[in-house]
Amino acid sequence: MPLSRLDGIKLPASADFHVHLRDGDMMQLVTPTIREGGVNTVFVMPNLVPPVTTVSRALEYKSQLEAIEPRVNYLMSLYLHESITPEVIIAAKKAGITGVKSYPAGVTTNSSSGVIDYAAFYPVFAEMERQDMILNLHGECPSSGDITVMSAEERFLPTLLSLHTQFPNLRIILEHLTTAAAISAVQKCGPKVAATITAHHLSIIVDNWAGDPFCFCKPVAKTVEDRDALLRAATSGDPKFFFGSDSAPHPSASKRGGDKIAAGIFTQKYATQLVLDAVEQACANGVLQEEKITVDVLEGFLGKFGRAFYGLEQETKEFVTLRKTGEKIEEILKSEKTDVVPFRKGQTTWSLSWA
Ligand code: NCD
Ligand code: ZN
Repeated sequence: MPLSRLDGIKLPASADFHVHLRDGDMMQLVTPTIREGGVNTVFVMPNLVPPVTTVSRALEYKSQLEAIEPRVNYLMSLYLHESITPEVIIAAKKAGITGVKSYPAGVTTNSSSGVIDYAAFYPVFAEMERQDMILNLHGECPSSGDITVMSAEERFLPTLLSLHTQFPNLRIILEHLTTAAAISAVQKCGPKVAATITAHHLSIIVDNWAGDPFCFCKPVAKTVEDRDALLRAATSGDPKFFFGSDSAPHPSASKRGGDKIAAGIFTQKYATQLVLDAVEQACANGVLQEEKITVDVLEGFLGKFGRAFYGLEQETKEFVTLRKTGEKIEEILKSEKTDVVPFRKGQTTWSLSWA
């Protein structure tokens, strides 16, 4: 069986550099699942309603998360918005906030307050560069004219290159890559530019989300060639590419009912396990070579490279063990107040334990 030699593998705890933990009832439901996915460090996205645009709100949000699950290191972000000024950046850095997330207006969940014109934020980016804060980019152009969800990421790449040229020392992360074109663009940039890759984009393509709301997210999964390029980048040992699940929980009613389907795939509870599943599947399909999937490769993608890019002081001292025991992904997670359906519900995955 492919990757069976990895049965029982012990890895350092994963770090997930792109999570949506929401607020209120959904935050209560999903925050305790972070460690079940083998993760002890997360970069928390700020697209709440209203978005997190002040230092005090980010710190308050962090303490709410810590109260639910204190054994996780929460790295916090602000939502790029007209109220973010260079002064706010200086205060954010002092308060220990890690990054600023930019959402282009209208392209994804809760992005109505997003960016229309990047040039308007140049003074903010210049201050971020001075303060060595990270700019996290949702790299898509809004659909209009000949731009569609299939080309939205590729059409954004000139903006990435122009920001990198204008601010060569600004650390930039192109979030949740979905295309071979984006991989090449990130490779061409200097070491200040890196990218996250999700577990689901390592396994699905356009056909999976056409007709299945639980495979629908932004940016949408693209072609077989794109997915295979992502698999190769994630297992290449190139430190520019590391894990960010983009786990984005929505109540099942927003996925199954109503006129519009919410964009977002919930993977938090099985974050590490789903990455191993995708890699295993790719070995079985001959896309990846099993002998190249070493502990170093997995450890790099799942935490080491991201921790290094984020400048986290020390490597984690916690470990997880992964085994094949035939564990099935839950059909639905429920509290009294809300629920969420996990990606690949009902299917078999790895079992994870701490230590
Ligand atoms: C995210 C969400 O639901 O917050 N949705 C998604 O499809 N990924 C927003 C985002 O990261 O684009
Ligand atoms: Zn996201």
